[in-house]
Amino acid sequence: MKVLITGGAGFVGSHLAEAFLEKGDDVYIIDDLSTGAMENIQPFTEDERFKDRIFVHIDTIFNHDLMLELVGTCDVVFHLAAAVGVRYILENPLKSITINIQGTEKVLELCAKFKKKVLITSSSEVYGKHDHAPLVETDNIIYGPSSKFRWSYAASKLMDEFTAQAYYRTKGLQAIITRLFNTVGPRQTGAYGMVIPRFVSQALENKALTVYGDGRQSRTFTYVKDVVAALMALMAQDDAVGEVFNVGGTEEISIVELAEKIVKATGSTSTIELIPYEEAFEKDFEDMQRRVPGIEKIKALIGFEPKTSLDDIIRQVVEYTKKKRA
Ligand SMILES: NC(=O)c1ccc[n+]([C@@H]2O[C@H](COP(=O)([O-])OP(=O)(O)OC[C@H]3O[C@@H](n4cnc5c(N)ncnc54)[C@H](O)[C@@H]3O)[C@@H](O)[C@H]2O)c1
Repeated sequence: MKVLITGGAGFVGSHLAEAFLEKGDDVYIIDDLSTGAMENIQPFTEDERFKDRIFVHIDTIFNHDLMLELVGTCDVVFHLAAAVGVRYILENPLKSITINIQGTEKVLELCAKFKKKVLITSSSEVYGKHDHAPLVETDNIIYGPSSKFRWSYAASKLMDEFTAQAYYRTKGLQAIITRLFNTVGPRQTGAYGMVIPRFVSQALENKALTVYGDGRQSRTFTYVKDVVAALMALMAQDDAVGEVFNVGGTEEISIVELAEKIVKATGSTSTIELIPYEEAFEKDFEDMQRRVPGIEKIKALIGFEPKTSLDDIIRQVVEYTKKKRA
């Protein structure tokens, strides 16, 4: 099978590429390296087992002619290219909306034209300001005002979901929508506000771990390879088409507890420092207290269950970060 991965040099995309290469498929990647990195995929391009089956295009998904060729060539499309991370969205407001809305529309339009099955990666952010748990796919959605720009990421991902469903309803596009909850593991960068790589780097430098707000907000964290297995299984399931699925773990932990775990796992002398949101982000930033997925729907269809514990994930990220700094 020929698999196109937009954003394939990114964190999740590179793991997805690796899994398909291991399985024996051909992998086509398009990535403009805005937040991705060549080093994420370099080992595969040099690996004797893979090097004739990986085709990397360092370019933007807005290159229409190239995308025509790639979507036309491949059997299935995983659309991961996006502006990701709260800090990145706040620092690049217009670019983020353009890539997340217009970019996705272009990919979906081409997939409809060539009748290619496509999976898109939306986000748990679309749920907005809920504090209840678990969040299920049919829940209502609550956002803050448009003056609070952090909601633009949620709104843009929600628009992607509507667009995919509209193409499914009107053009018969075989589209699958996934809502990823915090996905973590090696190759994720802390540069755009992702909490685990940021804490691990701070701990390895024996610097204070900077926790935003009171640190009592909680999250779940899912190992990237568990997520990748779920995305691949969904793509292989005809009953997934036209549907929305949460993909995430259920082990809830507060951010302060996470920081404590990382200090312990690294044997660091770091302290934990609470930073008010107004100092860390724009003055009108808002956060969600809890973000826990209901995973009954994806479990029923593909038997998804996160396998990797948070302790194991932290161990792997620590190992990866140490190697990278060596
Ligand atoms: N990691 C998570 O916890 C998480 C949670 C929810 C949703 N998601 C979604 O999963 C997908 C992958 O996220 P990630 O964590 O791997 O982030 P990432 O930033 O590592 O991956 C995004 C990739 O898209 C590329 N890209 C951006 N604009 C592009 C363009 N115009 N043309 C080509 N490539 C472009 C970037 O260079 C990057 O490699 C995204 O759609 C994201 O919204 C991720």
